[in-house]
Amino acid sequence: MHDMRFAIPRQDINREDFASSIPDFNRKSEIMKTDKGYKCIITNIVRLTEQEKLFRLRIIDTRERNIFRFRPGQFLMLELPGYGDVPISISSSNSNHEFLELCIRKAGHVTSALFSVVEGTHVAIRGPFGSAFPMDEMTGNNVLLIAGGLGIAPLRAPLFWINEHRDRFFNVHMLYGAKDPEQLLFTYQFNEWKMINHITLHTIVEHSTAGWQGKTGIITDLFNDISFDQKMTYAIVCGPPVMFKFVCSYLDKAGIPMNRMFVSLERRMHCGMGKCCRCMVGSTFTCVDGPVFDYWSVMNLKEAI
Ligand SMILES: Cc1cc2nc3c(=O)[nH]c(=O)nc-3n(C[C@H](O)[C@H](O)[C@H](O)COP(=O)(O)OP(=O)(O)OC[C@H]3O[C@@H](n4cnc5c(N)ncnc54)[C@H](O)[C@@H]3O)c2cc1C
Ligand code: FES
Repeated sequence: MHDMRFAIPRQDINREDFASSIPDFNRKSEIMKTDKGYKCIITNIVRLTEQEKLFRLRIIDTRERNIFRFRPGQFLMLELPGYGDVPISISSSNSNHEFLELCIRKAGHVTSALFSVVEGTHVAIRGPFGSAFPMDEMTGNNVLLIAGGLGIAPLRAPLFWINEHRDRFFNVHMLYGAKDPEQLLFTYQFNEWKMINHITLHTIVEHSTAGWQGKTGIITDLFNDISFDQKMTYAIVCGPPVMFKFVCSYLDKAGIPMNRMFVSLERRMHCGMGKCCRCMVGSTFTCVDGPVFDYWSVMNLKEAI
């Protein structure tokens, strides 16, 4: 009698199945997932500093709002009709499906125009785009969150993630540096991070002003205040390239493996989905392969920093 255990299941191979198994060299699947525009309304604007504002956006269509998902570290292309679009990191919790927060610095044409809009203005977003911080991989470890200046914007989504899953991590230190005390963002959340979320917060400014009682110096000075077990520590570093170069080389010397340090690379972008080549560093698309890279990959990207 024929033994069914050894029967080879019949494979119904047809051309369509075969075609779908071909490697996606043109990143079509990526585009299918992300080339979707969402109309939004700005529901709230908070002025954080002279140069930065926090915008709260709500996707207008209820169904679209319910299906929109992103991962900490990803970004959007934000369009202000009549002006153009700009890549901006999502700065809110990915578990919040009611609104998105974007922390935006007035830099040039589009961002300056955004600075003069009022609540109720309609904008559009595309995305989410790019790679994300591997939050699950960090589970069971210590985490160093290190931000310089506006680098706190992309760092806020992983910070929310950690706060919402706090029991999965051991010690979490946040090291945050700015040029002067007036440039420190989200100061109104510092107590919440410290007291409720048990994040050990260390701040430093390059130039102190009257009334500043904290530390003065550069961000790497803060390493003197903390100790960590390099075998079980991950780091997320966001800020200007010169800053994460110094920070990551310090962490490297301290023994944290390069593939446990993550940075977010910013390049000029247009399409956000691997089509226009504007964001390329060598043969790497920072919009699709990044913006989040581990430091080992960054070191191997010519002219990345
Ligand atoms: C993945 C990613 C995430 C970003 N997240 C944020 C964010 O959360 N908040 C925020 O305020 N900004 C963020 N930026 C930077 C933001 O996209 C630029 O400031 C913006 O595109 C400038 O557009 P603009 O029309 O206002 O300025 P432009 O008139 O185009 O340029 C003004 C000045 O800004 C510089 N510039 C333009 N684009 C960039 C860029 N991508 N990176 C660095 N300098 C640039 C130009 O060289 C010029 O000096 C991000 C950029 C990327 C690539
Ligand atoms: S922004 Fe167009 S390829 Fe990356």
